[in-house]
Amino acid sequence: MKILVTGGLGFIGSHTCVELLENGHEVVVVDNLNNSKKDVLDKIKKITGSDKIKLYVEDVKNIKALDNIFKENNIECVIHFAGYKAVGESVKNPIMYYENNIVSTINLLNVMKKYNVKKIIFSSTATVYGEPKSCPVSENFSTGNTTNPYATTKYMIERILDDLYKSDNEWSIAILRYFNPIGAHKSGLIGENPNGIPNNLMPYILKVAAGELPKLNIFGNDYNTHDGTGVRDYIHVVDLAKGHVKAIEKISSENGVKVYNLGTGIGYSVLDIVNTFIEKNKVELPYEITDRRPGDVDEVFSNPTKAKNELGWEAKLSIDDMCVDSWNFKKNNI
Ligand code: WQD
Repeated sequence: MKILVTGGLGFIGSHTCVELLENGHEVVVVDNLNNSKKDVLDKIKKITGSDKIKLYVEDVKNIKALDNIFKENNIECVIHFAGYKAVGESVKNPIMYYENNIVSTINLLNVMKKYNVKKIIFSSTATVYGEPKSCPVSENFSTGNTTNPYATTKYMIERILDDLYKSDNEWSIAILRYFNPIGAHKSGLIGENPNGIPNNLMPYILKVAAGELPKLNIFGNDYNTHDGTGVRDYIHVVDLAKGHVKAIEKISSENGVKVYNLGTGIGYSVLDIVNTFIEKNKVELPYEITDRRPGDVDEVFSNPTKAKNELGWEAKLSIDDMCVDSWNFKKNNI
């Protein structure tokens, strides 16, 4: 199929483009390079040996640009990654998040409708569950009690997609709720390399290991977990990307709105990650236990059985792979 990937040069988007090309799809990327670099396109081509990928450097909010992309390409399906995703930033600047994430999605859906393209995979997040009542978290758990504007934009878009399908049953929609994506492609050519001071754990660890930051602050060790530090469901970004290929197969065969958790179902603590990273990569990683980060919860990990049963997908890569592949990418990009 010819697939439009919004935000396709980003961390998850680029890994998904690799898997799409390696599964025989053609890819059209629209990316405004706000949180990605243009040379990722060449790296995707180098990894796959394919040139069936085309880039439009445009903002998904730009309806004219979107219309031109659909006019010039016979798009059959869309994977929608594009959006701002920093929790802390969304608290400071909620309007910027609502405008960017919601308006871009509405513009995209309107253009899709105009060209009768009614298959979409939406990049959602486990943060739509807010503070889950228990773990593992299943798709039928309540959503909407979100704790930051970023998560609320994702929750609102899920609602928009639900209502869209209710208005027109020709739509086929997959909503994929990611847990904590880390890792990088084995080639070391693509990965997560955010500018500035990272919010998330693994990008921060990588900067400390590379000597770009002095030490890791571990936000609290008094949580109700096996070692007191926060527990999360880390999933290798390549496993996550493979889940998108399976989701395309699913929405190609039936209409409706399908929601899937993409996680491993295993919870690891911050210290589990730190100790695995040190042991597997044989690096030093100075750290200090500091106060809790506001809004953090003890533990969040997924029940991934629905994706296994309905998509025939499950995560296969280990926490060791995630730590080794992350460091391999960083070493190639210092
Ligand atoms: C993981 C654990 C922290 C940094 C994020 C956001 C959002 C989502 C991915 C898309 C927690 C601890 C972290 C640090 C630390 N993205 N930590 N020191 O908070 O689970 O959620 O998940 O939806 O970005 O919701 O991920 O990587 O920020 O934190 O001790 O410098 O690492 O307390 O326990 P989180 P995270």
